[in-house]
Amino acid sequence: MDSKSWIVLLLLLAVSSATKSQESQDKGSSEVDTATLRTPPGLKAPKKLWWLKEITPEYHMAGRLSERQIKYIADGGFKSVISLFEDNEPDDLGGERLPTNDEAREVAKISGLQYAVVLDESDDWASVKAVEKLAKVLKTVNTPAVLHCNRGYTITFVTLMHMANLTRHDPKYTPRITSKNFYKITAAMGLDFTMDFTKAVVAEITGEPIVENPPKPDANPEEWYDYWLAHSVYKNWYTAGQISVSHLPIIKMAGFKSVVNMRQGVTMDGNPSQEAVTLLNVKDGTATYGDDKIGPRQIPFVLESLRTDPNRGNKYVSADSETNYEVTNPKEFGDEIGYSEELEKEIFEKDGMPYYHMPVATDGTYSPELFGKYKDQLLELGKKGPVLVHCASAKRVAYMSVLAAALQYDKDMRWALKRLRELGFEVSSTKKKDIYNMYQAWLDKENYNRTDKDEL
Ligand SMILES: *[C@@H]1O[C@H](CO)[C@@H](O)[C@H](O)[C@H]1NC(C)=O
Ligand SMILES: *[C@@H]1O[C@H](CO)[C@@H](O)[C@H](O)[C@H]1NC(C)=O
Repeated sequence: MDSKSWIVLLLLLAVSSATKSQESQDKGSSEVDTATLRTPPGLKAPKKLWWLKEITPEYHMAGRLSERQIKYIADGGFKSVISLFEDNEPDDLGGERLPTNDEAREVAKISGLQYAVVLDESDDWASVKAVEKLAKVLKTVNTPAVLHCNRGYTITFVTLMHMANLTRHDPKYTPRITSKNFYKITAAMGLDFTMDFTKAVVAEITGEPIVENPPKPDANPEEWYDYWLAHSVYKNWYTAGQISVSHLPIIKMAGFKSVVNMRQGVTMDGNPSQEAVTLLNVKDGTATYGDDKIGPRQIPFVLESLRTDPNRGNKYVSADSETNYEVTNPKEFGDEIGYSEELEKEIFEKDGMPYYHMPVATDGTYSPELFGKYKDQLLELGKKGPVLVHCASAKRVAYMSVLAAALQYDKDMRWALKRLRELGFEVSSTKKKDIYNMYQAWLDKENYNRTDKDEL
């Protein structure tokens, strides 16, 4: 061959290997260690319900709920709430009161939700009997349902065991839960059920032999269970939506070393940029400042037009409320306009907990430069231990944290896209191209430089 033919041949080889690598990434594009392909957390109210963990579209897991959270569940379009345990005593989460079953049932009723309790005080959660009892309760409630225990841990076990039993007895049942994927699914959620007593129940329910050396979650430290609202990304990386004032002591207790806030500040580039704060019986995702047609969000007649359910009673908001919608929400750092990052920062500063503001615009496109702006600082925090990265609905931060974790632990594009899917966010060379591009620029430089970026 002459030298020209050689060059042509080499070029062809280069192009074909680039295409192959693209293909292998796309081929992995349905691979997940979750029971079904998850959707972003929270159904119709992701800003209120970012802390739910979807197992299937019908069943979403949670820890012990506050009164406000039960109402948020109603706002999000759920039909029922199921408590695994009998809670006859109130509890609290960082000072926010957690109601008893009887009180919770009353809140559920006002909110139009079905309510049920599964176990008696004497029942063991890691047992065949618990699974049988849950099966019975599930027959009586409408879905989608939120199922909860204290920290979202035991309820995940019992729910998946119920699904494993259905898998065993009904060849047509999907998703198929075998003992092998039970451990994968729970590990992907950051939950560890590899103790001998749980392994024995898994074997008993599935009728399969005890799994030796099942996969263990990578999440650390295990105390993160105490802040069950977070989503485990990988090792020391966690995401969250808008945290509330009462979460701060729990976040510290759970071992987080720093909190990163990616919501917009009060101003951005000199312009007012407050995001909306969540309000009871007011729809998520409506503009803070309004426009020519509609006034600022937090004035009564605008809020009235944004109600989730105009027919709710005023009691839904509080015993002495004069409206059936909420007007402000100081517990989630809301002021008269919307969400105020300044109020949040103040609380962290007073407390001395390391806090960083790295705003990502709500309507912005993602780019290699956007991540580049925060990369060094994020990786620096990553070295110091568990990082909780929050925004409004745990979406922006999923895109940013998975990439940070991938860089800290030298993971590839395929790993990162799989992890995003497992958190409920699908990114590929055809879906959310700007994010795909941002990932490729940092994780797959070789192919990034080959791609025609003019298309973006
Ligand atoms: C499993 O399913 C079978 C068949 O539907 C049922 O008889 C049994 O009670 C179930 N077991 C549990 C633990 O739910
Ligand atoms: C690819 O492009 C980026 C950004 O333009 C550049 O920083 C990097 O060095 C390039 N990498 C390779 C392998 O050519």
